[in-house]
Amino acid sequence: MIKYLGSKRTLVPQITDTIQALSGVKSITDLFSGTARVGHGLKGLGYRIHSNDFLAYAHTLAHCYVQADRPDVIDDASAAIEILNALPGKPGYFTETYCLQSRFFQPENGARVDAMRDYIDQMDLTPDVRAVVLVSLMEAADRVDSTTGLQMAYVKQWAPRSFNPVRLRLPSVLAQGQHGKSRATCLDATIAAANTDTDLAYLDPPYNQHSYLGNYHIWETLIRWDAPEVYGTACKRIDCRTRKSPYNTRRTFTATMDELIQATTSPYLLVSFSDEGFIPKCEMIRLLAKAGDVHIWTTEYARYVGARIGIHNPSGDKVGTIGKLRNREHLFLCARQPLTKLERRILHAQDGWEFDVHRCIPSEETV
Ligand SMILES: C[S@@+](CC[C@H](N)C(=O)[O-])C[C@H]1O[C@@H](n2cnc3c(N)ncnc32)[C@H](O)[C@@H]1O
Repeated sequence: MIKYLGSKRTLVPQITDTIQALSGVKSITDLFSGTARVGHGLKGLGYRIHSNDFLAYAHTLAHCYVQADRPDVIDDASAAIEILNALPGKPGYFTETYCLQSRFFQPENGARVDAMRDYIDQMDLTPDVRAVVLVSLMEAADRVDSTTGLQMAYVKQWAPRSFNPVRLRLPSVLAQGQHGKSRATCLDATIAAANTDTDLAYLDPPYNQHSYLGNYHIWETLIRWDAPEVYGTACKRIDCRTRKSPYNTRRTFTATMDELIQATTSPYLLVSFSDEGFIPKCEMIRLLAKAGDVHIWTTEYARYVGARIGIHNPSGDKVGTIGKLRNREHLFLCARQPLTKLERRILHAQDGWEFDVHRCIPSEETV
């Protein structure tokens, strides 16, 4: 799967353990699906998933990993990938924009991406197979990019992996879960929340100012294939200036989150949030407590290496103060009905849970 800001790769086991402790949950809506790895993990356990994200590339990832079912796509997707891998390069918009005007990919790889992406539009593929093939191309390009993982900039010297030839592989598509057919939508989260009927809604919103469209603009263009006007050294799509998420602005975050929680109807809500987000733990409790009982699971992890090394002047002396060395990642479980004894007992067996947290302890707000 692609490198992704805020991906819940390491949290998937805790998310699935939590959901498995809840009786009667057979279907889940993932309202901010990103890489779709949460939905993919849950589909693999048999749940019926509705994955949603408002960006086209994230929707395509969810279409491939959540909506498409392996037996329906495996033969046609494998055949298409074989054809695409054999195509010679043909430079076009992608090469011009991301290999010559900027240096995100080596021109030989850019020309092959151009040829493959054009060819996909000429192939007679079902929507599910098409999504699998597009994801295969996105992931292949991700393996040979010359970035540190974000598309705000490319690295000065070519990354060693960028010299590898781009090569498509079949993504790990799953068979339908025992609880029914999963689906993917590309909607604003509040609209998706009002149009779903699942037992649990999982909310993993952006929690700071970093826009996903700006950080992954090349994937958006690769999927839309709309050859947009671009600006700046990173050749960002012109619509990065206008397509904004209200979750990326401190001023609009709380009201939008409140509206979203009110729009959900599932018996359970599960929210991922970090203590580096726009609102403190207390505020999230306040918003969720309007919908039901709130329980919190917390884990701590070391911050990125720069925070630990500290700030140095050009002669190597330590200057300034080192920021926080550890972050906290929370899962907020909100239950509209009190948890049963059995649910509590199973959750109790997991480390890190606080139960019935309805009010804020003032000292926590400043932690
Ligand atoms: C923190 S990431 C989700 C990461 C995901 N759980 C994973 O593990 O890959 C947040 C996602 O929210 C999406 N997003 C931002 N604003 C949105 C909105 N208003 N409606 C739906 N999705 C939105 C972004 O495109 C991004 O993929």
